[in-house]
Amino acid sequence: MTGRIPKGFIDDVVARTDIIDLIDAKVPLKKAGKNYQACCPFHNEKSPSFSVSPEKQFYHCFGCGAHGNAISFLMEYEQLEFVEAIEELARLHSIDVPREDNGTGKQKKYPTVSREQKQSDYELMELAAKFFQHNLKHDQNSKAVIDYLKNRNLSGEICQRYGIGYAPDSWDSILKSIGKTKAQQQQLLDLKVLNQNDSGRTYDFFRKRVMFPIRDKRGRVVGFGGRVIDDGTPKYLNSPETRIFHKGNELYGFYQAKQANQNLERVLIVEGYMDVVSLAQQGISYAVAALGTATTPEHMQLLFRSTRQVICCYDGDRAGRDAAWRALENAMPHLKDGVDLRFTFLPDGEDPDTMVQKEGKEAFEVRLGEAKPLLDYFFEHFVNALDITSDAGKSALLSQAKPLIEVVPSDYYKEALLAKLARLIGRDADKIKLANRSPIAEVKRQQTEFQITPMRRAIGLLLQHPNLAKEVPFIPALANAEMPGFATFIAIQKLILDEPEIKQSVLLERFRSQKEYSFLARLFSWEHQIDDENLIQEFAETFKSLQDSYLEKRLEALLIKGKTGQLDKQEQIEYVALMSALKS
Ligand code: GTP
Ligand code: MN
Repeated sequence: MTGRIPKGFIDDVVARTDIIDLIDAKVPLKKAGKNYQACCPFHNEKSPSFSVSPEKQFYHCFGCGAHGNAISFLMEYEQLEFVEAIEELARLHSIDVPREDNGTGKQKKYPTVSREQKQSDYELMELAAKFFQHNLKHDQNSKAVIDYLKNRNLSGEICQRYGIGYAPDSWDSILKSIGKTKAQQQQLLDLKVLNQNDSGRTYDFFRKRVMFPIRDKRGRVVGFGGRVIDDGTPKYLNSPETRIFHKGNELYGFYQAKQANQNLERVLIVEGYMDVVSLAQQGISYAVAALGTATTPEHMQLLFRSTRQVICCYDGDRAGRDAAWRALENAMPHLKDGVDLRFTFLPDGEDPDTMVQKEGKEAFEVRLGEAKPLLDYFFEHFVNALDITSDAGKSALLSQAKPLIEVVPSDYYKEALLAKLARLIGRDADKIKLANRSPIAEVKRQQTEFQITPMRRAIGLLLQHPNLAKEVPFIPALANAEMPGFATFIAIQKLILDEPEIKQSVLLERFRSQKEYSFLARLFSWEHQIDDENLIQEFAETFKSLQDSYLEKRLEALLIKGKTGQLDKQEQIEYVALMSALKS
């Protein structure tokens, strides 16, 4: 007889699985904004309305409504039973499915390794960063490295702020200092701080390089960039992708920019690590760099959520222009009302580092003040490449610009772009037909029309952001309130408070067998559009208003009862308490 699968194990396989990899292996996915999409495998369709969110680890079909997590996918796609789906996931991760021992009645506790592992990944990376920092001062090469940084006009204080360090000219310094146990070595290998050659020898990945730790938006070290101090190659070596480092999501310097600016009014996107640090040295503490890749839609989305103005600053050469245009293309789907995207190009041969050192902070900021607004840059780009006095040029402009305009979510920007396009080709704006809203956009629109009542809002936000649970008081008594939803809210809140590290996908999984599951899954797919920094406040306000409306209802009930003279002592006390609670 086999026993039950421990709950901790189910949590663990769900947490370990990347739904994108899982689905992509069976239904090839395409990146679309922050999500991935494909034609839905669960119904017949020609254009894709099946969307998978890496963030939520959840899929949703806007056409047929199919939705769920990794387990649901296997159950539906492979026609597996629940337990078989778990076994399949376990097989993919080469782990055995443990069973609770129901013979003796004792339950073996399954350790949820992935959570602990994840924490120590960050701890280990922090240790590595500290190690490099220590070597900046204490390695035998110290003097040369410090001279190099001084030559680049960086102060000790700024190097400290960015945690700049040095990886010694050695094959085993990291290995010796923090890779003491086999387990640590394996972990450092996984995190690509160590490398292994074909014959199985383990050695330091970064050697004889100035080290720039890359922090995620919460300040945790997730990777490194390392620069040679001579003219060796490659000039920069970056950490490869690991389970905690995803280049397309991280921006170098973003954490420091947030730290330095309470209200991040503006963010400057530049190309290099050195540019970011050098700008900070000169007092411009709001620059970030993509990590040797193009600026991705995820970057743009992150920035538009955190600041009002984004200025892309690139070299004036061909590569810089291409990079800027790529940034624009990736920004268009995230262009919402109220954001301001601008572009500026530096003179030939300069980069932000050399430029700001040459002309100083004030002049550089004047330059930023003169950056081209999106609308100007957008059309300039086409006008420079096409002869728009000819029909050929006009038609090319129309066909190239239209698809970019169609994806803009802001009606204001969309109309402004369209109006300008119309003027350039000498046509009325309303004669330019934008593509019919794609089915995906259409159903998304319907979905946003799925009424998000305050209660649904509270539950949805809590599900999607479990860390909100501690931001409002925990009042178990609300579960008995005669207001639909409170019991569910309290149940979710309790679960999170009991297991503060629970992942959102694991959280939802816990409700699979309950009647609320599909309702919760729907709220889980809801795209709330609330900026990170406003999240807590919005959530707390929603909760407060729900709580108040409950209290008001209760007060009214007591009032009615009181009019007929039936309030007992207890109810009178409650009445007075409610009166004062509602006043505050
Ligand atoms: P400095 O030469 O130190 O001023 O650096 P920089 O930041 O000005 O570098 P550059 O403009 O040459 O490159 C911009 C960015 O591209 C760097 O910060 C790196 O992220 C990336 N990059 C440059 N060279 C290489 C390379 O050889 N390999 C990789 N992987 N990335 C590089
Ligand atoms: Mn440079």
